[in-house]
Amino acid sequence: MSRNQKNTPLYTMLENFTASRPVSFHVPGHKNGNIIPSQGKEAFKSLLQLDLTELSGLDDLHAPHGVIKDAQELTAELFEADASYFLIGGSTSGNLAMILSVCSPGDEMIVQRNSHKSIFNGLELAGAKPVFVAPEFDEAVHRYTAPGKDSIKRALDRHPRAKGVVLTYPDYFGRTYGLNEMIQLIHEYNIPVLVDEAHGIHFFLDDSFPEAALAMGADAVVQSAHKMAPAMTMGAFLHTQSERMSSSRIARYLQMVQSSSPSYPIMASLDLARSFLAHLTSTDLRRILNSAEEVRDILKKGDLWHIVPGDDPLKITLQAKLGVPAETIAGLFEQEGIYPELATHNQLLLVHGLAPFNQMKRLEKAVGRINAQLKNIPNHDIIDTNNLFKERITELELDYFTMNQRNSIQVPLRKAENCIAAEAVIPYPPGIPFVLKGEQITRNHIEIIEQFMQQGVTIQHRDIEEGISVFC
Ligand SMILES: Cc1ncc(COP(=O)(O)O)c(C=O)c1O
Repeated sequence: MSRNQKNTPLYTMLENFTASRPVSFHVPGHKNGNIIPSQGKEAFKSLLQLDLTELSGLDDLHAPHGVIKDAQELTAELFEADASYFLIGGSTSGNLAMILSVCSPGDEMIVQRNSHKSIFNGLELAGAKPVFVAPEFDEAVHRYTAPGKDSIKRALDRHPRAKGVVLTYPDYFGRTYGLNEMIQLIHEYNIPVLVDEAHGIHFFLDDSFPEAALAMGADAVVQSAHKMAPAMTMGAFLHTQSERMSSSRIARYLQMVQSSSPSYPIMASLDLARSFLAHLTSTDLRRILNSAEEVRDILKKGDLWHIVPGDDPLKITLQAKLGVPAETIAGLFEQEGIYPELATHNQLLLVHGLAPFNQMKRLEKAVGRINAQLKNIPNHDIIDTNNLFKERITELELDYFTMNQRNSIQVPLRKAENCIAAEAVIPYPPGIPFVLKGEQITRNHIEIIEQFMQQGVTIQHRDIEEGISVFC
């Protein structure tokens, strides 16, 4: 590695700037943390001192030539990308820019059906014609994970004019699949593979983790640095390594989808997170992985769940035993002051950090108390989601342009069968749409949405209690 990954050019510049006690006659209005309501002073003061703007020497995210350029180049070097871009709008903004940069209105894009909503929003903004490839039900983890290679091949053969393929790797729970072979297959058609690797920024660190998308030859990869690396929320990276991607288009769309006043604390935290990742030694990693194993051993003592095998050793998925809603288990953990990452109707995800966990005893006691309480929990109906995607390759009933010309109405759920959804139905987390805007609503959809609602799953869809928004 030619550069010193200990360097944090952007963070160090901000620190030096702050130490020079600058006088602010510029925005932001908190004036280097001096104007803050008293109740927030203690918590915010030091952070707001770093909350600067494009002053001399502090560079400009949208036209980088100084410390931000250096920080991005260090990132590209660490991840072995041709170019890396700092994102201050999360992987969401990277997914939007990545899609917009390869597809124009009317272009076909092959897309994994169980993608994050930002992928669908990107397709809609681009005016793309998505071809969805349904994921397979993965018996080993009791979830839909990724599409099979055969389905991707069929979509490629049926849609030879597609401009690219958008895949998600790994899923929220750290499950992976044969991305390498899939990338090789897609490259035979000479189109780019865009990978939403929001949950896999740490994969490049060590062989104990699954292989990283960039190492397998993906053309563009988006990673949330705030999810598995220690960056601030909304900090993410977009990496590219391909002549199939246009860097000028990516830069143009990043300017459109990101703020013209990017947050310096978020950018500085990306600089620090990159340096942190670069300096994790194999001894550090062994300690972290041992700690995750110890957490897993404690959680194995839970009476009403079992641990689902996973590919990412830092993701621990609990499968609730039949009839026990995972949300109920999540609530009991929360009563213990322990907050899992997410609960679906039947699974609970706990995410171990990139440092040893230091409250094993507390976790052990909490599991003991949760076991005692769970014995009194009434059983719930089981949501049968094993048969969601009957068709492997689908397209929308209406294109985005037509949909956006039409008025929508709200109809009671039970009356929505066979209507076309005017708004996606998204259980959150994980934010993967269950019904897509433009898809036909089936009886199966309605029954499952009702069960989600009965079980208190948060659903993103305007006034879902009133009904579902459909095109008339
Ligand atoms: C697979 C996937 N992609 C993208 C995102 C969006 O990431 P961000 O929160 O960094 O915008 C998420 C968020 O959970 C996600 O799960």
